[in-house]
Order: sequence, then C-alpha cells, then structure tokens
Amino acid sequence: MKVLVLGGGGREHALAWRLKKSDSVSDVYVCPGNPGCASVATCVKPPITTIEGFLSVARETGADLTVVGPEGPLVDGVVDAFEANGLLVFGPSRAAAQLEGSKIFSKRFMERAGIPTARFVSTDDVGEARKVLDGFSYPVVVKADGLAAGKGVVICQDRAEAETTLEGMFTGALVGPAGAKVVIEEFLTGAEASFIGLSDGERVLPLEPSQDHKTIYANDQGPNTGGMGAYSDSRILGAAQRDFVMREVMERTIAQMKAEGMPFKGFLYAGLMMTARGPMVLEFNVRLGDPETQALLHRMDCDLGALLMEAARGRVKPELLAFREEPSVCVVLAAHGYPGKVRTGDAIEGIGEAEARGATVFHAGTKMERGRLVTSGGRVLGVTHSGETLQEAIANAYRASDEIRFDGMQVRRDIGAKGLKRW
Ligand code: AMP
Ligand code: GLY
Repeated sequence: MKVLVLGGGGREHALAWRLKKSDSVSDVYVCPGNPGCASVATCVKPPITTIEGFLSVARETGADLTVVGPEGPLVDGVVDAFEANGLLVFGPSRAAAQLEGSKIFSKRFMERAGIPTARFVSTDDVGEARKVLDGFSYPVVVKADGLAAGKGVVICQDRAEAETTLEGMFTGALVGPAGAKVVIEEFLTGAEASFIGLSDGERVLPLEPSQDHKTIYANDQGPNTGGMGAYSDSRILGAAQRDFVMREVMERTIAQMKAEGMPFKGFLYAGLMMTARGPMVLEFNVRLGDPETQALLHRMDCDLGALLMEAARGRVKPELLAFREEPSVCVVLAAHGYPGKVRTGDAIEGIGEAEARGATVFHAGTKMERGRLVTSGGRVLGVTHSGETLQEAIANAYRASDEIRFDGMQVRRDIGAKGLKRW
C-alpha cells in the first residue's frame, strides 16, 4: 500500500523511515517532507498549505492511508476533511484534538474523567487571574490556553513573575492570541515521562515510555525548546506505574472521549510527572512527540504500516506491535540562536560518517541550497542510536553526533543522563 505522511520535521522523517521498512508498504510520500525524508520517500510540495492542499496531495499520490504528524492540521480539522472525502486517515478529529488545542478543554476534561492532574483555575480576566494567585504557592505554573509551539508554559518563581507573565499572556505579547485565556496551576515535582498510546477510538495500545529534554542547556538550564533530545527505555515506568497509567489515564481518556461523542483515534501523548502522589498528567498532545518519536521508532520492531492501517480502520491489533528491548537515544543538533532567533544557511557536514557509526540521522531543519545541505530551522538533526544498555546507547549516539559539524551547532551533552540516575 501507499502511505502519505503529513509534516516535515524529525518526527515525520522517522515515520517515513519506519514505514519504508514495513512489508505492507510499497511507497511512502511525505508532504512537504525535507531532504532526509527524500532518502526514504517521495516528498511532495502541497499546492497550497491548507487542508485543501493536503487533500489534493492525497488524491494525486493515490495514498491508501494518510498519517498526520503535527498538531496544527489536526486542530484545524484535517482528519474530518479527509473522512468527509472518503479518505482513510490516522489521527484525531478536530473535536478530539481539543485535548491539545485547548489547555482549558483538556484540564476540564481530566476533571470530568477523574484523571490525575495538577489543581488548576482557568480565566480570561487579568483581575480575576491576580485574585486566583492568592490561592497558590510558588512556584506556580501559567499556561496559555491555545497552541504556542512549546512556548506557552511559564513556571513562575514568585508573585512578581506570575503577574508579569499574566500580563504578557493577556496582552498577546508572549504568545499572541493563544494567551487570551490561561490556566493557572499547581507546580508538581518528580521525574517526567512521555507515554504515548495508539488508539482506534475504542481500545488503546501502549507504546514504550520515553523522556524528552526540554531546556536548551544541560542540567535543565536555560529556556525551553521543542526538545533537545530524548531516550526510550522500558524501565522509565515500573510495571505498577505502567498499569496505573494505562488504566487511569489512557483507557479512561479513550472511554470518556467516546462517551462524550468525540472518539479519539490516533496517537494520544500524555506528558506525565511521577509525583509522590502517583503519576499525574501535565498535558495531553494528540500526536507523536518530537523528538521522542525518533527514539521510539528506532526501537520499533514491527510493520508500522499494517499497525496504523488496522487502527485507522477501527481495530488496533496488539499482536502487530513490537519493540526491541534495547534502549535508544536521540541527540538533537540545534542551530545557532535556537530557541531564540535562529540563523539558517550553515553548511552541514559529516552525516555519512555518523551513519557509518551505525546511527540513523533524522532531518528536522535542513534544506538543499545550491547542491549543499544547510541548516533551515531551529532543530536541525536528530542523531539516533541504540545500545544493549542505556549507557551504551548514549555513548553510541554521541560518538555518531560528534562526527557532524555546522557553524553555531548546539548540543546538550546530557541526553539520557536522567535515565542513568533513575536506576
Ligand atoms: P508543555 O509545553 O505543555 O509540554 O510543558 C512544558 C514543560 O513545563 C513540561 O514538560 C514540564 O516540565 C513543565 N510543566 C508543565 N506543567 C507543570 C506543572 N504543573 N508542574 C511542574 N512543571 C510543569
Ligand atoms: N517533545 C514534546 C512534544 O512533542 O510536544
């Protein structure tokens, strides 16, 4: 069968790479893709970057199945449009995508469903927001309601910072219209984990756990990014924690969404904090995480095409899902200036050498310019490797990433170290 992937980052390169290895898949298309995707798939530029554009690419390529990578088109209703046109697609509807599109929707949903999450208040009024702060201690977390490309969450150390943040949210200075409404919530402490389930709207299968590294500098210093690296290791959650998360978060969410008339079909990502009170949900995403996907799909040991096709048709099949036990690590190489103003156009060298060391190098922000591969975005590459132990996987990933060079390259040197501390 032919599969179309929508998106053009590291996550989509990893999806295309794993789909290309699937026995059930003959051709992979990525729209718009990137130079990395082009080595395993056919990249197709959409005639227009709207849902209509994606529809026309799906028709033109004759795709039997479309898999949606990023949240934007999901929240805009790309799945509804595909289904209305009789095209098979894997991802949540616009209604179900509110779990990521609106933090207020998501928090209220968790409250209704009895899913463990931080205590919160939501408001769109600055006076009320100030009053609400009286009921919280510090640090306190302020979150923009809408999509903000990873910049919508601010951990405020004291009241002055909270007030400045609220003002920035309501005036639009911080994240534009996404900050017109906010969630103010209790600060939780513990180890973080990313847990992703694959659902057909009724049942949900667990993928392996992983962990992202959000800040630009090692030891969680500096501003947040889209993610500077991730590792996947089955031990991130113990058996009891895994059962708890499946029962109290994943299955509960899928059942409640169905009961409320907006069944969730797609990848359901829970950002978790392992608190002293047990695992709690920090946020839901309605798609695969980036860069978690690069690490996860590196470990995957099954026909992803067949798995997603069955799920899209409404029947997830547990027997189609398998992972290798070996942990994996994805080290992100970021451009000069990231996560602030990014410089582009720096020539990239050494990918072949990194691959000769056994790594898979996923492209995120690259483009071809006069025959040379150059940087074109904040996160440039995701160098991904596995190992018999997590320690080995880390060493393998860094040995490979050390082969790659471009001016201004930024690398966090502690990807996976949190895992080594866990055990
Ligand atoms: P997000 O952009 O929604 O993924 O959130 C970014 C990060 O903010 C999360 O990965 C956590 O590290 C942190 N965070 C979000 N909510 C809380 C909370 N209630 N307590 C502590 N940290 C939080
Ligand atoms: N890595 C976090 C995310 O994809 O939102």
